[in-house]
Amino acid sequence: MVKAKTYVLKEYFQGFPKPTDIHLEEEELPEIQQDEFLAEAIYLSVDPYMRKYVARQPLNSIMVGTQVARITESKNPKFPVGRHVMARFGWRSHTIHNGEPDGAGVAPFLLPEDDMGDLPLSLAIGMLGMPGSSAYFGLLETIHPKTGETLIVSGAAGAVGSHVGQIGKIKGLKVIGIAGSDEKGEWLTKDLGFDHFINYKTDDIDKKLREYAPGGVELYFDNVGGEVTTQVLKNMKTFGRISACGSIADYNEQIPKASMIQPAMVFNQLMMQGFQCMHYKNRWDEAFKQNLEWLKEGKLKYKETVTEGFENMFDAFVNMLKGGNVGKAIVKV
Ligand SMILES: NC(=O)c1ccc[n+]([C@@H]2O[C@H](COP(=O)([O-])OP(=O)(O)OC[C@H]3O[C@@H](n4cnc5c(N)ncnc54)[C@H](OP(=O)(O)O)[C@@H]3O)[C@@H](O)[C@H]2O)c1
Repeated sequence: MVKAKTYVLKEYFQGFPKPTDIHLEEEELPEIQQDEFLAEAIYLSVDPYMRKYVARQPLNSIMVGTQVARITESKNPKFPVGRHVMARFGWRSHTIHNGEPDGAGVAPFLLPEDDMGDLPLSLAIGMLGMPGSSAYFGLLETIHPKTGETLIVSGAAGAVGSHVGQIGKIKGLKVIGIAGSDEKGEWLTKDLGFDHFINYKTDDIDKKLREYAPGGVELYFDNVGGEVTTQVLKNMKTFGRISACGSIADYNEQIPKASMIQPAMVFNQLMMQGFQCMHYKNRWDEAFKQNLEWLKEGKLKYKETVTEGFENMFDAFVNMLKGGNVGKAIVKV
């Protein structure tokens, strides 16, 4: 008999999540049935969307999330023992599944381990997973960058932002990253090839942008919203294009606060397009293949902030929300 550990939502988050909002519980799993397999989590993802998404979850349900899991028992020939899946199993240590798509139409994805070579399987919840697809489609299909244009990325040292900036460099853009510490900025400019960095906690964003892009910029990939975005929009060229990916600046705020973006939107005649990576779920394979190729060619570099231990999921989650991660925040069981 296998005992699964799960994190159950007990209270809706108010402000920053509290440890008492979720409970670590145990669940006895039955024997697997025909067409089912049992998988053991190896890497679990902690992502900003979880902070917002729980408001839609019923209390006492298991926290949503993606993981890389090893198949340990199987009565489904498509999911053999020893192989790994990337799947939306939630915050669970062990899962029984039949391999069919869930309510959102997404099935466990059998990792092409031979193709991945020496790359870590954890990338399947990072650059080769949902954040990677978001970077790929959110930049290339949403604001259609053209060689020679200038791109600003907020949340630049995180999973999506660090990836977006590097695709920007691959596509011949000038890239300016905005993030919350000078150490993050060093990584962006020295290792990833970003052209400039702005620390939104200590720099005057408006002044720095006028220095780094005196004529204004064409493209903005927005992960944070709030006051950072208000300052960026003032520095965009007429008809500039904005990809609205997220607004983490307000995820933990009871009352969001930022000055109006409309003056810059109107004055600069900007185009802002929101996107959802789920919209591209039937094309994730395309992003996976292209990102894998870029990784193998050394054109994409990655960093992971790894928290050890399933029992530390909550700490990893809050640490990421507070900016403690560089690159992708993951938990290694
Ligand atoms: N639309 C979609 O389909 C989609 C898909 C994936 C992700 N997203 C969104 O993309 C954004 C980035 O996600 P991610 O997974 O790559 O997370 P991440 O950037 O790896 O981690 C979150 C980062 O947000 C920054 N942050 C926290 N509070 C902030 C604040 N008040 N102002 C500015 N920055 C703040 C922190 O970095 P600092 O040290 O720089 O503060 C932290 O490291 C999030 O908004 C997320 O919701 C959207």
